[in-house]
Amino acid sequence: MKHILTMNDLSNEEIYGVLTRAKEWKGKQVPIVQDRPTFVANLFFEPSTRTKMSFEVAEKRLGFNVLDFSPESSSLQKGETLYDTVRTAQAIGASAVVIRHPKEGYYHELVNGVSIPILNGGDGKGEHPSQCLLDLYTIYEEFGTFENVHVVISGDVKHSRVARSNAYALHRLGAEVSLSGPDEWKDNTLPFPYIQIDQAVEQADALMLLRIQNERHAKQVNQSHYLEEHGLTLARERRMKRESIILHPAPVNRGVEMEDELVETKRSRIFTQMENGVYVRMAMLQAALQEGGELDAYTTEEHT
Ligand code: CP
Repeated sequence: MKHILTMNDLSNEEIYGVLTRAKEWKGKQVPIVQDRPTFVANLFFEPSTRTKMSFEVAEKRLGFNVLDFSPESSSLQKGETLYDTVRTAQAIGASAVVIRHPKEGYYHELVNGVSIPILNGGDGKGEHPSQCLLDLYTIYEEFGTFENVHVVISGDVKHSRVARSNAYALHRLGAEVSLSGPDEWKDNTLPFPYIQIDQAVEQADALMLLRIQNERHAKQVNQSHYLEEHGLTLARERRMKRESIILHPAPVNRGVEMEDELVETKRSRIFTQMENGVYVRMAMLQAALQEGGELDAYTTEEHT
């Protein structure tokens, strides 16, 4: 797993390895001691708050130097390609790159020529492995297992890279996966049953709501009835099982995918997901760099 581009790049054993390391490191500063400075470049070609900041904090907690990048002020404006941009990061000393890009599968044009690990921070409607791993971590932290945990992924499934990464990964780890959402946003390529939101709230152990991906829709949709028809209203939340939890990758369209006041209700793990994301990304970086030969046989200094 030198690159982490899709969840298929990780075996179950490697997934559990990341989750275990993230748990060990949760709340800790664990600088990796190298005999040379380590640089990581974060190349974000699509907006991001969580993923970008979280990778940056993860890199700094590992003691790495972060090479920030802004497409608007880069040589992309002079016509430089994605490939040449990444090769440049490698040439000037980056040991890994984190890339978010609107093009699904952007990494296919990179993998043959780039020899440092690439961590996918989201590719169009493709996949979002770091989000998936932090979702897995949060579910595992809650239930201590994936076996028979019923996860319902609900909303704009068709345009969601989070849904695709999670559905397959959860299924192969033993969870029961169902989907829910409006007919026009169904993804019939995903081999999982669809249920109505009113069944979903009663059956789910983890209800994973998805953001409406307005930026990926050919035409804007009227969202005024979405909450009542497909979202998590206060009345629906009251019908959830006692121990069940609410997840959302965020950003949340408050009052659309879910009632505003439910974002921080007791059973919501939305901000816990963000917190967990830092430690999961630390574990991903360590694993990818180790596998890619970019880390010496490392030791860490732990500081709380
Ligand atoms: N969940 C997520 O990917 O958020 P950002 O788009 O803010 O990174």
